Amino acid sequence: MAIKKIEPIVEVQPAEEKKTTELVLVTKKVKTPQLLRGFHDVLGEDQIYWDAIHRKVRELAYAYSFDRIELPILEPVELFVRSVGKQTDIVEKEMFQFQDQSGANVVMRPEATASTARAYIEHGMVDRPQPVKMFYDGPMFRYDRPQAGRYRQFHQFGFEAFGSDEAIIDAQLILIAERFFRELGIPVAVQVNSIGTTETRAEYKVELATYYRQHRNVICEDCKRRLTRNPMRVLDCKEDGCRAVSVNAPQIIDWLDEPSKEHFMRVLEYLDEVEVHYQLAPHLVRGLDYYTRTVFEIVPEVADDKSTADSSTADELGKAGISGGQSALGGGGRYDGLVELLGGRPTPACGFAVGIERTVSALKGRQIKPEGSKHRDVFLAQLGDVARRKGLALFEAFRAEGIPVAEAFGKSALKAQLELADKYQTKYTLILGQKEVLEGTIIVRDMESGVQETVDMNKVIGIIKKKLTE
Ligand code: HAM
Repeated sequence: MAIKKIEPIVEVQPAEEKKTTELVLVTKKVKTPQLLRGFHDVLGEDQIYWDAIHRKVRELAYAYSFDRIELPILEPVELFVRSVGKQTDIVEKEMFQFQDQSGANVVMRPEATASTARAYIEHGMVDRPQPVKMFYDGPMFRYDRPQAGRYRQFHQFGFEAFGSDEAIIDAQLILIAERFFRELGIPVAVQVNSIGTTETRAEYKVELATYYRQHRNVICEDCKRRLTRNPMRVLDCKEDGCRAVSVNAPQIIDWLDEPSKEHFMRVLEYLDEVEVHYQLAPHLVRGLDYYTRTVFEIVPEVADDKSTADSSTADELGKAGISGGQSALGGGGRYDGLVELLGGRPTPACGFAVGIERTVSALKGRQIKPEGSKHRDVFLAQLGDVARRKGLALFEAFRAEGIPVAEAFGKSALKAQLELADKYQTKYTLILGQKEVLEGTIIVRDMESGVQETVDMNKVIGIIKKKLTE
């Protein structure tokens, strides 16, 4: 095969200083395009965390009978304006939206509950046995101010159950969310509240607006605007002034209609039954408009040590359900009106979503290193060109037998390869040199004892298989 030489990128320029016609070669500087602000790469070394999370999600989905749904990233703008709500931060300020080539207004999904509801309607899932239980995972996009734990592209997984208004569904979803963290080793607290129905909220909103008007000078400009349109949004404002005022705001529980109150009590009873510990969070309303009745958030458990004023303040705000900004690991609730709002038949539903980046940080913060699936017990080292070629084929033979082998075909020095084998903590290293290739043998080195034996190349797979099962 003819190999074409690739020329380096160069620019020929006259050498100005010398004021001669002599030509010099100048290497062209190429500026590397950088990551967009708020976007991030997930590198190989972090994959053990991501894999562990995905494994746990699938395990729970299987155990609780949730089917995976793969949803598109691009959706019509209208979907989120109608569901998440016109006056929410997500819709007002954070949507990555644009017109596509056909002039359609589209948006990179900021969340996936609305998409799941759209899919439920679009595929006639109302005619399937209810509840229809689905889970998803993937990237979401919000043009928010990036900071620790807050990205513009982040990942979520979510569980959604459509077609039942029974309180047991809410409780089981809360339980799944709590178990997810607990089984990964992350201690969490569940904060729960009920925000009733749209009708019962009307009176509460009037009361809330009256309360905040008395503190107009303290709340932020955005919240002053929210007072007339949707005062409940002030309760989940992340600004310090608003959070402080919210601590003493009226609590929605006092305005709940009887059926909502009863529903809430039943959710709590079910949680007691399965020993899911929760904190009542009377100001928790969540930042999306589609919720009715149960709302909940999963936050990292606050340490017992309340020695600093700051931590006790945070604890107090947390218990009241006043969002600390980036602290929630997950959140969800019931959204009985959403399917109808999007044009489907009235269908009660409930669900939650968890932030994967925040879960990874929580694992790292607690020094929890999940078991990697990448460990290999065997390393194949080669010395010389003939051995390298033979090694390539031997590697394939091991793979065909289902034995994962590590290698460093890019390295030639034996010392460097043995160092790698050590680093990978393999049990056996196979050493193949020119002599061994000629003799049809291979060296098997026990990495722990350092003992080496030369074996027949044709039998090495069987020998290793036996050693690994001993
Ligand atoms: P959410 O509270 O907006 O709810 O998001 C859920 C979780 O996603 C948060 O608790 C957090 O861990 C993570 N998250 C949100 N925004 C960011 C960000 N900018 N950077 C990093 N992580 C973030 C929802 O999205 C609802 N769809 C949940 C739901 C499902 N409700 C019912 N079903």
